[in-house]
Amino acid sequence: MSRHVRIDLPDPCLVVLVGAAGSGKSTFAARHFRDGDVLSSDAYRESISGDAADQRATGRAFAALHRDVRERLAAGRLTVVDATSVTARGRASLVRIARIAGVPAIAIVLAPPAEVVLARNAGRSGRTVPASVVLRHLADLERSRRGAGIEAEGFASVTVLGGPDGDRADDVAVLVGGRTSPRA
Ligand code: CTP
Ligand code: MG
Repeated sequence: MSRHVRIDLPDPCLVVLVGAAGSGKSTFAARHFRDGDVLSSDAYRESISGDAADQRATGRAFAALHRDVRERLAAGRLTVVDATSVTARGRASLVRIARIAGVPAIAIVLAPPAEVVLARNAGRSGRTVPASVVLRHLADLERSRRGAGIEAEGFASVTVLGGPDGDRADDVAVLVGGRTSPRA
């Protein structure tokens, strides 16, 4: 099987998934990481307010998520943050937490074409996000990638998975500390 992209992760590290709603972050996380290592903003919203889509819970959800990231990194546990992280501000708090913990932050950007993201979002069986929100995410991400880009934000590495199938398990090999990741 040919793997076109190889992502070598130091262990521990903080993996920051970046991508619009519907870009495939949770699918990627489930394919390549252990469930217990993935902290998802939706799960924190759900646990705090009983509704994964409740935007009023965002502040408290991220406060709890950031607290748990700090604790996990202090304990030397590889941690994956599954949130859109499409704005520089959202990413900056994660980069700062990793820096204080002395752990490298790694960005993995899920960037399929806009029409693929919109179609995936629309075709979801469970929660769908309004197309206007997806378009805003895509615009935020595009802005982030202009100029010096996400590469200038303090990440140890930035991998962009583009193309309609750029995030398929067949295309990407994730190695943790030199070893194939548990879900490969
Ligand atoms: N999907 C797909 N092929 C992929 C990746 C995702 O068909 N390579 C589908 C998923 O099955 C899902 C939809 O696209 O129905 C959105 O993927 P998901 O991983 O849930 O996207 P997220 O980025 O996690 O979206 P959100 O931010 O809203 O959680
Ligand atoms: Mg998701």
